[in-house]
Amino acid sequence: MNRPVIYQVLLAARARTRTTVISQTRSYSSHPGTLNSIASTRSKITTLTLHQLYRDNVPITALTAHDFPSGLVADNAGVEIVLVGDSLAMVALGYENTNMLTLDEMLHHCRAVARGSKTAFLVGDLPFGSYEQSQEIAVQSAIKMVQQGHVEAVKLEGGHEVAKAISAITRFGIPVMGHIGLTPQRSAALGGFKVQANTIQSARDLLDTARALQHAGCFAIVLEAVPSEVARIVTESIDIPTIGIGAGSACSGQVLVQLDMVGGFQKFTPKFVKKFDNIYDRQIDAISQYVDQVKARQFPGPEHCYGMKTKEDAQRLIEWEQEKKSKI
Ligand code: KIV
Repeated sequence: MNRPVIYQVLLAARARTRTTVISQTRSYSSHPGTLNSIASTRSKITTLTLHQLYRDNVPITALTAHDFPSGLVADNAGVEIVLVGDSLAMVALGYENTNMLTLDEMLHHCRAVARGSKTAFLVGDLPFGSYEQSQEIAVQSAIKMVQQGHVEAVKLEGGHEVAKAISAITRFGIPVMGHIGLTPQRSAALGGFKVQANTIQSARDLLDTARALQHAGCFAIVLEAVPSEVARIVTESIDIPTIGIGAGSACSGQVLVQLDMVGGFQKFTPKFVKKFDNIYDRQIDAISQYVDQVKARQFPGPEHCYGMKTKEDAQRLIEWEQEKKSKI
């Protein structure tokens, strides 16, 4: 495989230095154990790291996380951008669409992810209704995302109509990621979750929009569900990274919804999702075994049970029980 040299160097360095700790001890069902002491030795990913990867033509990896464990696992697996996407509305909260998610709900999930993901660059979606009405509202929401959601950057959907909001947010020092092509918050207006920019005119419009977002100050742009050729032309025509989802391999990076790519969300699977695992089936299997073993009194086994402090106490307990029974 013809990988850029810098990528081979990064892989080698990661193999040498990464001390991801997967197993921890936990004594009680709700005890946090040593989870927070997980040591990933990689340096904190910043916009500068992302820019360097982009300049070196090394694909940037991004993945969504919606809670503490998914943030932790994405970070420990080595993705560079962890995105608290508003996809969480559908895949984690069971809403019909992403527009039902409120800013408060988003903040709650961002905080949970931030507690798990310590080294990746953390981006949070501005939910529908939290940035469109005015630049002031957009800035207020973005500040909340940083201050109360503990994210480092925000992502918002849209083109020319949100360019002023993007400029305003970036003026306050908050990096903004754009999102064009299929923008799920507008899926009703787009006639559903459909491929975008697949005519010559709409492809030209997409390029024009990408340029406008770069000009407004975005540090990167998500391209969702657009033909690969169009994504390639956009990527080659702008000077900031494109992060593709259903946009082909020529983008500067890729993003997927974590629950989709591990096979944890069964309701529907977009064409652009590759299932790298099938954890839904594996969870069903594990939980069915649990149910069967509890019914058969095979679980818990002796190794999962506590004993009395001393043998003498155990003996006295039996005697006390017999004494009690004999009095009845
Ligand atoms: O909400 C989300 O998860 C997203 C990504 C799929 C890009 O916007």
